Amino acid sequence: MKIEEIKLEDLQPQKFIEEKVKEISSVAGDGLVINALSGGVDSSTVTMLGHRALGDRLKTYFIENGIMRRGEPQMVVSLFKKLGVSVEMVDAKNEFFNALKGLTGPEQKREAITQVFYKDVFGRLVKESGVKYLLQGSNYTDVEETVAGVKRQHNILEQLGIDTQQQYGYKVIEPIIQLRKPAVREVAKTLGLPEQIYNRPPFPGPALAARIIGEVTQKRVEVVRAATKIVEEELSDTGAFQYMAILHQDKVTGVRDGKRDYGLQIELRCWESKDAVTGSPTRLSYEALEKLAERITTEVPGVVSVTYNVTKKPPSTIEAV
Ligand code: XMP
Repeated sequence: MKIEEIKLEDLQPQKFIEEKVKEISSVAGDGLVINALSGGVDSSTVTMLGHRALGDRLKTYFIENGIMRRGEPQMVVSLFKKLGVSVEMVDAKNEFFNALKGLTGPEQKREAITQVFYKDVFGRLVKESGVKYLLQGSNYTDVEETVAGVKRQHNILEQLGIDTQQQYGYKVIEPIIQLRKPAVREVAKTLGLPEQIYNRPPFPGPALAARIIGEVTQKRVEVVRAATKIVEEELSDTGAFQYMAILHQDKVTGVRDGKRDYGLQIELRCWESKDAVTGSPTRLSYEALEKLAERITTEVPGVVSVTYNVTKKPPSTIEAV
């Protein structure tokens, strides 16, 4: 299937919403549809589109995969409750960590997350509820990067020739597949989502696992989660496109209280970008960088080194994995 991009300048958000609501209703018929909400702008937008189209016939889940940011599951569920959308939390932490055990290759980890998400967790939800469709927020950039072979984006299936009906037992509906992020933000705003959502920096489907080089264990997720909290507190006012903390696999020699401390390395990235296709590092002030290094090495146990990445995309990518 050839997907045609709807460019931001050609987008008529209200018309787009009306068309997609109609499309979702007609595909779903009088059946139930499920979707997973992560709280990012993409999944929030399709949740609202689906909710408009189907009301209570859309069952929305938050998959607690153990690799989200601190407080995120509770924040997303309560925010959507205020918008009239009830979200059920599914605890799948053990499934994700078991699948990630021992894996170190980036594409291996991405593949494992995709399988647990689509085959195990959704496969089960679909079987239990008898639904035929999964509504999801894959966007145009996800398709482009996956098809070009840059990175296997977790939510790209059909475009890789995967027959979801045959492999997982359900079909997918992808209402925003023709839009890039800035266009999705316009639709989100027009749908009445709060600014906290429509202007939210992107966050990858594989969550903090995209920011851990090497094996993803609960302990290593804790390190990157604590560093992420600090980075978000310190950089949210910059207006940058995305900012993140990455945990390296190699340890380095440090010194603490006059003694050798063989510890962890955190790499910081902060990006200027329009649509994540290309990007350049934000010219953060030296004071901001020093404060980040100070906070991370004192507040995150085990970290002895903090670096800032000054590489553009390309050749870097935005996330490390
Ligand atoms: P990269 O790292 O490929 O990221 O330069 C481009 C943009 O996409 C986000 N990203 C993902 N989003 N599923 C998603 O929905 C994924 O598997 C995924 N991987 C990366 C990333 O945060 C950036 O905004």
